[in-house]
Amino acid sequence: MASARRVLAVLAPDLELEEHAFGGTAIRSHGDSLPEETLEACRRADAVLKAPIGDPEFDAADVRPEQGMLRLRAELDVYTNLRPARDGAIDMLIVRELVGGLYFGARGVREDGTVFDTCEYHPSQVERIARRAFELARERRGKLTSVDKANVLETSRLWRRVVHEVSAEYPEVDVEDMLVDNAAMQIARSPEQFDVIVTENMFGDILSDLAAAMTGGLGLAPSASLGDGGPGIFEPVHGSAPDIAGKGIANPAAMLRSTALMLDHGLSRANEARRLEAAVDDALETTPTPDLGGTATTAAFTDAVLTRLGD
Ligand code: IPM
Ligand code: MN
Repeated sequence: MASARRVLAVLAPDLELEEHAFGGTAIRSHGDSLPEETLEACRRADAVLKAPIGDPEFDAADVRPEQGMLRLRAELDVYTNLRPARDGAIDMLIVRELVGGLYFGARGVREDGTVFDTCEYHPSQVERIARRAFELARERRGKLTSVDKANVLETSRLWRRVVHEVSAEYPEVDVEDMLVDNAAMQIARSPEQFDVIVTENMFGDILSDLAAAMTGGLGLAPSASLGDGGPGIFEPVHGSAPDIAGKGIANPAAMLRSTALMLDHGLSRANEARRLEAAVDDALETTPTPDLGGTATTAAFTDAVLTRLGD
């Protein structure tokens, strides 16, 4: 986030930036991972730029950083999660449903000790994410892969039926269904076959880490979470990397690419977004961090980005 703030100060100096506690930090200061004042500030904002907020300190705790994350996504109803993965011939966009499925279904413990989480989708939830995905595919290479587990799950059979109903409105998009196990193999084996992938929350969580691994790793993977009109949330796909915390060597590329997605989708500043993307691509070549086999610190990588922006 420090890196993103440095870049924004140069690229969009007129932007009004506010910082609010969230996740692990907020649990320590407020006893709540999403304090009311943070939620209200997010609602009032044009866009939310979010840093990783987890901390293994809370792994076994009742109040966990991730709960605030899921609540914020639900409160802002950011149902479309865009996770682009690009590298060489690979150019795919995972469109992950973000506010339904296993993450938000009924859960609990039965009397006999059985623990359960349920995967639930209403047809309208599938319809709106499918529509978004078709619209995105139409603007790209016109190919949409819908990923499900329709050979086993009722929710997947619903997913498949609704995607096909919506497809009638987008004759210019080629749509295919793929079972999630096969999709994992195909992403690992020939990721360049994919254009847009649309899938439910949990499958999208897992496949987007795989797609990141195929395109340089989690240090490079950004995301944008969008609703209908309200503020979007822009955040890296990766977590807080506690193993390297405080060492000053985290790769800020995913955070900066998320900042570019924010400039583009959240603030209608496409021009600045393109400039930042190009500067990050450039810094990845000239000034790689240790996760990419280089030696640059987070600050040195950011310096390279700023130098390029000043050219
Ligand atoms: C992600 C993360 C989150 C998720 C966790 C931290 C709740 O893994 O954004 O991919 O599973 O959605
Ligand atoms: Mn994840």
